[in-house]
Amino acid sequence: MSSECCLDESEGVAGMERLFKPRGVAVIGASSNPAKIGYRIIENMQNAGYTGEIYPVNPKGGEVFGIPIIPSLEDATGPVDVAVLAIPAKFIFPAVESCAKAGVGHLVIITSGFSEVGNTAEEARIVEYARQHGMRVLGPNIFGVYSASCGLDATFGPGGILPGHVAIITQSGALGIAMIGKTATESLGLSALISVGNKSDIDEADLLEYLATDDATKVIMLYIEGVKKGERLAKTLAKVTRKKHVVVIKSGRSKRGAMAAASHTGSLAGADEVFDSIMRQSGVLRAESVQEAFDWVRYLADVSLPAGREAVIVTNGGGIGVLATDACEKYGVSLYDDQAVLYEAFADVMPAFGSSKNPVDLTGQATAEDYASALRAVLEEDRMNAALALYCETALFDTDRFATLLREIYQEYSGRKPIVFSLFGGERIEAMIRDLRKEGIPVFGDVYQAVSALGALYRSTTTMKREPKKLSEIEIDVEAIEEILENAGQEDRNFLLAHEAARVAEILGLRMPRSILARNLDEAVKAAEDIGYPVVMKVVSKDIVHKSDAGGVALDLVNRDEVIDAYQAILRSCHVYKPDALIEGIEVVEMVRAGVETIIGARQDASFGPTVMFGLGGIYVEVMKDVSFRAAPVTRTVAEAMIAEIRSYPLLLGVRGESRKDTSGVAEVVERLGHLIDRCRRITDIEINPLVVYDVGDGVKAVDVRILFENPRGVN
Ligand code: ACO
Repeated sequence: MSSECCLDESEGVAGMERLFKPRGVAVIGASSNPAKIGYRIIENMQNAGYTGEIYPVNPKGGEVFGIPIIPSLEDATGPVDVAVLAIPAKFIFPAVESCAKAGVGHLVIITSGFSEVGNTAEEARIVEYARQHGMRVLGPNIFGVYSASCGLDATFGPGGILPGHVAIITQSGALGIAMIGKTATESLGLSALISVGNKSDIDEADLLEYLATDDATKVIMLYIEGVKKGERLAKTLAKVTRKKHVVVIKSGRSKRGAMAAASHTGSLAGADEVFDSIMRQSGVLRAESVQEAFDWVRYLADVSLPAGREAVIVTNGGGIGVLATDACEKYGVSLYDDQAVLYEAFADVMPAFGSSKNPVDLTGQATAEDYASALRAVLEEDRMNAALALYCETALFDTDRFATLLREIYQEYSGRKPIVFSLFGGERIEAMIRDLRKEGIPVFGDVYQAVSALGALYRSTTTMKREPKKLSEIEIDVEAIEEILENAGQEDRNFLLAHEAARVAEILGLRMPRSILARNLDEAVKAAEDIGYPVVMKVVSKDIVHKSDAGGVALDLVNRDEVIDAYQAILRSCHVYKPDALIEGIEVVEMVRAGVETIIGARQDASFGPTVMFGLGGIYVEVMKDVSFRAAPVTRTVAEAMIAEIRSYPLLLGVRGESRKDTSGVAEVVERLGHLIDRCRRITDIEINPLVVYDVGDGVKAVDVRILFENPRGVN
């Protein structure tokens, strides 16, 4: 059987299905020696009850778990959709050639010793050959793949994976294997588990596309160390989060962590702020820790989507109710507050000294039955969308009876409305939490954990229900911009001079201060008079990048004499600063009125491609790092959200009697810059600093625009 065909960049979901539902799996490097990985994999496949054919392959022959070991893949008696390779790196290429001859569809390469240790050429050779011969590669440097749909545990993990609704994609092998153990203790069922290792070919985006179509998968958890094709990943995530809950854990949040991750996987971790923003933009829930991720996925795997955002807290302790209220604020869970409805709903169960205000406090006197009735009242009332049930251990309460009631209530209502429990107390309560969790009931020991899970559900639900917004149609004469870059590139530079950048800004439709390039003193005076005083003057020279340092800028020139003096002073200073600098002239620019200074940037991010950034200028961006990022291009709604997201946003709304600023003018510039950086990939960085914002209706002005671009002549 031969399959000599080439594959496109992505073969799509249909092809990927064979990896998760293979008819036959070969294990190359299968061994009857229990110390070998090739033995463990066969053992796990046997124990998990794989429904297809297993072909252990080893030239030595023999048998393993009663299955005859075939000396070569040619001896397979049926189709082999997946070959798992667990032999030393130097033997992988010839084995891959034999897989091509046997018509294998997917290679699962367990073996280490490739790009992660600098052996990049061999890895690339394998992938190129595989793709040319119609095969996809998972790995290398992985612990394998698990798929519940056909009982396939082709991993060398501890085995015993429970089938369920959570799919895990992990870049870290060791952590992935540890997660198998963790899922067992948490009674968390998996639909799939995929180790991606070096991501030489199949990456998260390929797997997400498939998992989005898999009915058994309700939640996808990703552990990421470094992002390689971030632009594709972000676009895929944005589509997948409309159907499935997606939780991500990314290491490398701290600077030291980022360095460790980079050396660990051989791929560079992207800047954390950009990663964080793009995950949020894509509707992904980013967990702080593995524990938080487990709490979320476990909850999301079983819960139904809430009809609205109004939750009700039921408690038997005032203090814990207040803690929960704080947690609700932190995690964006809103609390139902129609007093009349609340009063009526709890009238029959509330003791005289209790409170039907939300949090509903039944007090320590409540019995298990009172508590259950109050909970039922929430779950029966359509206007209340979720129940947050808190309980503090008291001497009066029958804990066993309480556990039975919780089980009954959970079984009856969990398909209809989200419920989350938080119990606090001594040993009996701890045991109760453990038992209920084993049964899949969302019970937490800490109020914040419980509310965080509900908050994750709310955020993910918002993403799923969000109306997709369209990008604005913005016309940009990209050809004219490319021509400016081309001409500048001829001069062996990778940045535009001020007047060239101003021309790009003009093509983009940005409002800039009026500016005229003067080549002599007379022209400078005439330009200043045409523009009108006050004016600013700036040197124009490709040899002087930092104009202020060179004394090449003069501000607030109010008359002819000042323009003449400044012209001569600029030339003198620049000559002293760099005697051989070629000076093209002096730019005379309108001096703009003061307003709120903002900064808007756009760049080709190393991991995610085109991105935009917004922040307030000056200390806000330099000291406070108060900025927001998104993958570009962005819709108007997203541009507005970026502006509203920074901490200093109130300054744009008008403080101390000042008027509200023209944020829609800012949003339009963010949008336009996003479109430009996406369509003109040669531009590597654009920065408008400052973009001065005036009162509503008065618009914005781009005072200084800097543009860097990729020069194919190798200048940077
Ligand atoms: N075809 C079939 N079988 C072969 C071939 C071949 N071309 N070549 C060798 N074999 C057999 C060997 O004879 C041996 O079988 P035996 O036990 O019956 O003698 C078996 O395949 C394995 O080969 P060995 O040479 O014994 O190799 P070894 O098992 O020592 O190592 C391994 C192979 C495990 C793949 C190793 O090279 C490796 O990469 N280890 C790291 C794996 C890893 O950690 N991956 C990342 C996981 S994620 C994480 O971090 C946990």
